[in-house]
Amino acid sequence: MNIGAWTVAIDPPHAEEDNDGRITLVVEGTELGFLLFIACADATVWIDTIEVAPGLRGNGLGTRLLALVLALHPGRATGLAAPTAALAGWYARFGFVPAGPHGVMRRAATP
Ligand SMILES: CC(C)(COP(=O)(O)OP(=O)(O)OC[C@H]1O[C@@H](n2cnc3c(N)ncnc32)[C@H](O)[C@@H]1OP(=O)(O)O)[C@@H](O)C(=O)NCCC(=O)NCCS
Repeated sequence: MNIGAWTVAIDPPHAEEDNDGRITLVVEGTELGFLLFIACADATVWIDTIEVAPGLRGNGLGTRLLALVLALHPGRATGLAAPTAALAGWYARFGFVPAGPHGVMRRAATP
């Protein structure tokens, strides 16, 4: 399987109201990962879940999903909850900073 030849399917939300979105990462017709997000009416995008197929973790697929959801929402602040310190460190590389209990982190809108 050539994971470099990836495509995505994006189920876009309506910007005006709270709405769920899903980015699905597909390689050779097989879903290898997905990211669920909520585009909130207050202009924040909340990243709910990121998941990559267990056997393929550590190959940069999660990074692609996270970079893509940020690129899709320029000018919007982003939030998520990091379940572990290791993941918080990963999110920090994208500009997320601790912003509350339970691992909540936020990233300012890209100017
Ligand atoms: C978190 C997750 C989405 C990352 O996806 P990925 O494709 O492995 O991510 P990448 O290959 O882009 O690696 C990103 C960083 O994640 C960390 N990482 C990667 N694989 C990991 C693993 N198996 N265990 C712990 N951390 C891991 C590393 O810090 C890595 O950075 P580095 O290798 O460049 O130093 C994936 O491990 C996963 O699906 N985990 C289970 C679900 C989960 O916890 N989701 C996050 C909360 S919803």
